[in-house]
Amino acid sequence: KRVAILLSGGGSNMVALVDSMTGDHPARPCLVLSNDPNAGGLVRAAERGIATAAVDHRPFRGDRPAFEAELMKPLLAAEPDIICLAGFMRVLTAGFVAHWQGRMLNIHPSLLPKYKGLHTHARALEAGDSEHGCTVHEVTPALDDGPILGQARVPVLPGDTPEVLAARVLEQEHRLYPAVLRRFAADDRTPVFLG
Ligand code: GRF
Repeated sequence: KRVAILLSGGGSNMVALVDSMTGDHPARPCLVLSNDPNAGGLVRAAERGIATAAVDHRPFRGDRPAFEAELMKPLLAAEPDIICLAGFMRVLTAGFVAHWQGRMLNIHPSLLPKYKGLHTHARALEAGDSEHGCTVHEVTPALDDGPILGQARVPVLPGDTPEVLAARVLEQEHRLYPAVLRRFAADDRTPVFLG
């Protein structure tokens, strides 16, 4: 199976996914694509010999379909079987999602359905939650809302700041996403629960 990974930043989730696709793993990375030409994850992908591309979203400000029409070009050329959104920070239209639905995954740093959207760690702290974590789900047109394929839990500890909690969650993201991808690539939809 061919896996395209979309990212916007440093790409630590991309690295975890790429480093997991070895040996008898049924999938291999075929493209790392970003909405930011300066994304650090593009350098880390290139260092690993993976094809990269970037479509800067800024010239398309306000015309999301036009941005996505450009984004589709390197994606279609790479012919992925699976798309992994990994720290990809652009909302995708229903039209784009419809094209890839059933083959596109996302990781979100909360225990969905709690805390869809942004600033999840600060919101969990604000709410006084004793637990937090991350979720991998199939992407549907509604934001952070598709069928859950895996979750990992972490404790919230006294004195946690959003940054400290985010780092604890990120460690689990790097375990959860590869575990889910391995099953998804083997057409196994049994959810993964860690921690
Ligand atoms: C992190 O905040 C992570 O929780 C979320 O995307 C952000 C960047 O991740 N999934 P990465 O290091 O670029 O993979």
